[in-house]
Amino acid sequence: MGKTTVSLIKADVGSVAGHSMPHPTMLDVCKKVLKEGVSNKIIKDFYVTRVGDDIQLIMTHDKGENNKDVHKLAWNAFLKATEFAKKYHLYGAGQDLLSDAFSGNVRGMGPGSAEMEFEERKSEPIVFFMADKTEPSAYSLPLSRIFMDPFTTTGLVIDERMQKGFRFEIQDVIGHKTITLSAPEETYEILALISDTYRYAIKRIWSKDEKIGIAAVVSTDKLNVTAGKYVGKDDPVAIVRAQSGLPAVGEILQPFAFPHLVAGWMRGSHYGAWYPCSVADSTPTYFDGPPRICAIGFQICDGMLIGTEDPEKGESGVGEHIPVDYFEGSVWDVTRRESMRISRYMRGHGPFMPGTLGPEEMEYTTKPEVLKKLINRMKALE
Ligand code: F6R
Ligand code: MG
Ligand code: MG
Repeated sequence: MGKTTVSLIKADVGSVAGHSMPHPTMLDVCKKVLKEGVSNKIIKDFYVTRVGDDIQLIMTHDKGENNKDVHKLAWNAFLKATEFAKKYHLYGAGQDLLSDAFSGNVRGMGPGSAEMEFEERKSEPIVFFMADKTEPSAYSLPLSRIFMDPFTTTGLVIDERMQKGFRFEIQDVIGHKTITLSAPEETYEILALISDTYRYAIKRIWSKDEKIGIAAVVSTDKLNVTAGKYVGKDDPVAIVRAQSGLPAVGEILQPFAFPHLVAGWMRGSHYGAWYPCSVADSTPTYFDGPPRICAIGFQICDGMLIGTEDPEKGESGVGEHIPVDYFEGSVWDVTRRESMRISRYMRGHGPFMPGTLGPEEMEYTTKPEVLKKLINRMKALE
């Protein structure tokens, strides 16, 4: 068998009511389009879900990353969902489709994408992370803990296959540059860059064990920068391969028990504590948030997704899956409570920093206009 590609492409193309959740019919419309994509042999399998107001298309195929047909399929699914959203005047209909015509790749056109190609191991567990109301660099803290911190991932110390460490591709999302650094030798340099969550984000992580290869990929399409004006936060996704020489699923999930502050809540302009929850619980209900993080798990088997559904269902079962929903259970209640306590505390600041982002990072701001209006009344200090 050749290589398998896993693509997760997402977009907010409208929701009900306000920026809350896509209409269920929009998800059905996407499923129909992707089912045709399976019939036309563009993709092998898929799973359609949503987190908050974003539609998430998980697709498996053998066409590699950035494949025109796969991206066009996703684009068409979003277009069809947009038609429904527009017809019923749903909120923000088509908001992430920044262009009228597809140009070969969804990158730079609004949707976010994370894709990885690999040789399937004997068993291939994958965790899909999907966030709402935040930006790609939100993943930098948990990913550095997962792949660099032996106090999180004991495997770095006691699994021989992990002792070589990992390579990190880091993107300067503002300057459009990229650099690859190697851990553990360059841990401090990596942290010096990615601790600036405004400018830098982790794009990819590889195992230095060549037999394993790609370990993680994050969508880093800075939507606000792409569009040149505010059109909604990125609400990024990430794909992480697990086990057998890579961090265990448990090591991958553990850092999310710390609800760190992430940027992008309410008008893309506030800090809130990341809230791990089930997909069903991902509808924003407090100040358009709090910023959510969901994690679902699938096995990959010969290019097909395997969840907890009956895989013997045959052809009709393609696209019909039941993933493991990792943040659903009661274990995460304590983090959710802590997250809400922190988010309410941050809200206590109202429009003041650090409840809000700094002026250069705010996605809605009237501050330059206010300053323009007042400039003549500003007197030099004596
Ligand atoms: C959108 C989002 C929201 C909006 C806010 C204002 O995903 O995060 O917080 O920024 O609801 O939206 P408008 O300007 O559309 O009323
Ligand atoms: Mg929205
Ligand atoms: Mg969203």
